Amino acid sequence: MSMLDMARHVKELGYEEVRVLKAFVMMMRDHESIDEEQLAVRAKMHIDRVRYALTKLNEKNLIYRSYSRGYHLVYAGLDVLALRELADRGVISSIGRTIGIGKEADVVEAIDDHGSVLAVKLFRIGRVSFRSIARKRMLKDVHSWLLASIESARMEFHSLRRLKAAGVNVPRATALARHALVMEYVEGLRLVECTNLDDPKYVLEDILRNIRLAYSIGLISADLSEYNVLYDVNGKIWIIDWPQSVDARTHPNARALLERDLKNILRFFSKRFDLDYDLSKAMAYVTMSEEC
Ligand SMILES: Nc1ncnc2c1ncn2[C@@H]1O[C@H](COP(=O)(O)OP(=O)(O)OP(=O)(O)O)[C@@H](O)[C@H]1O
Ligand SMILES: [Mg+2]
Repeated sequence: MSMLDMARHVKELGYEEVRVLKAFVMMMRDHESIDEEQLAVRAKMHIDRVRYALTKLNEKNLIYRSYSRGYHLVYAGLDVLALRELADRGVISSIGRTIGIGKEADVVEAIDDHGSVLAVKLFRIGRVSFRSIARKRMLKDVHSWLLASIESARMEFHSLRRLKAAGVNVPRATALARHALVMEYVEGLRLVECTNLDDPKYVLEDILRNIRLAYSIGLISADLSEYNVLYDVNGKIWIIDWPQSVDARTHPNARALLERDLKNILRFFSKRFDLDYDLSKAMAYVTMSEEC
């Protein structure tokens, strides 16, 4: 769905449509598909009103009706509900262009009441499978994927909060609604897009300093690479994409994951900037047994 259509649906969503969407979210955990009667009970609405709301939601492709006459919530519906809730809470006042499309999320631009730009990350767990398997089979799992997306947004929100409080350069997370995470917008490029850096050694050491700081509060990104580091217009680096971060003290593969994160970054700097930095030295530095 285009961002323009999405913005229109968010604005035009009726009160009863919101109630039905909320009922879907409440019932998803226990139902692969949901029928009209169940929705009427949960939404505390007359069955005729539920039917009317379902027709409207179906026309806008915010839900999907299967052959068995059951209904499924789909990502577009969860997006519209979450964005509507953020608008009602006064967190965002309008939605803009798509900033980034990752494997597990779409990141879109939004504006708040003061005119500041924000980034809204809408999780899309299972999207890869959506494309590769038949629609019929996909519907069987759609609710569990939506729930996994809600959980990922929650995890990343909490990690970003902890990291920010510890002084790690991550976008400030400002709000959470369902699978939508609102954060500060960073104007910059992903490291992978930077063909030229004024001082690559400084940038690499800055990244290592941040990984070390995260490690000091017990967090390992576990998805660190040149794709998840932003380099902004002022030459500052930002480490993004933390939903899968792991506990450095309790995760059984913590050390291997940290090593992989560091390897990815060191490999990139070596290839692109001819800058060689010893992996064991980086590991020792991050785990605090050595000064950089
Ligand atoms: N706060 C932000 N400010 C500006 N751009 C951002 C911000 N957060 C994310 N982006 C952009 O959106 C893209 C996708 O974000 P992110 O890496 O968090 O999602 P993802 O789907 O989990 O990615 P991946 O494909 O690495 O799994 C990023 O590569 C980046 O270009
Ligand atoms: Mg990413």
